[in-house]
Amino acid sequence: MNKNQTENHIILTINGKYISAPNSLSVIQALWHDGYPQVKGVGCLGGVCGSCRVMVRRKNSVDITMELGCQLLIEDGMEVFFLDFPASSQHSYHLSEIKSSWDVQTEFQRIFPEAELCRHCHGCDLACPKDIEVELGVNLAVNGRFQESGELFFECVMCNLCMTSCPEFIDPNHVGLFARHVSSYFHTRPSNLMNQLEAIRTGKLDVNTGENDLQVQS
Ligand code: SF4
Ligand code: SF4
Ligand code: FES
Repeated sequence: MNKNQTENHIILTINGKYISAPNSLSVIQALWHDGYPQVKGVGCLGGVCGSCRVMVRRKNSVDITMELGCQLLIEDGMEVFFLDFPASSQHSYHLSEIKSSWDVQTEFQRIFPEAELCRHCHGCDLACPKDIEVELGVNLAVNGRFQESGELFFECVMCNLCMTSCPEFIDPNHVGLFARHVSSYFHTRPSNLMNQLEAIRTGKLDVNTGENDLQVQS
């Protein structure tokens, strides 16, 4: 046993610095134990604000996982790195400017034009410390299924890890937030009806009402 390691203490690194702390502590508590100052108003310490996101590699493992520092108990030999990202500002909207639920899907495509370019690379799913089916949520929103999409993102803590993982700059967490917003702001219409209307609007579906004829363009 290392001379700094007592029965209940373990050694890990946080941002490259060796720390010895009782194994009952979370990563954040281990920092405090090491003398890092406690600052009020930075995070919730309850697993809901996402401000304590960390990248973790465990002893004898080559895998990297994304976790929340306030929820993660420390382990011997663990390597922890705090992550900081700028917030995205490319997708902005005001719900009050969406006239009705009939316009939600059109507005979604205007605000999030990248969403339909999803490569299904699973990067967002792998990055999510809350195990949310992020990719599915994005694709449900693309298909106008905002209620189902929003429900998937219910546990999202807006840590931005999926955002930084996305090669198409989709901002999946903001897609989820949009889905949650519109689901509660509007009584959203059935997705199959909205999909048909959107196909007509974008010219993918031709409706010749005079001859009672429907034609779908591939
Ligand atoms: S969906 Fe994205 S922002 Fe939300 S918790 Fe998962 S990784 Fe973080
Ligand atoms: S990271 Fe982006 S491109 Fe990849 S699956 Fe998620 S949303 Fe799609
Ligand atoms: S401090 Fe809010 S999730 Fe960890």
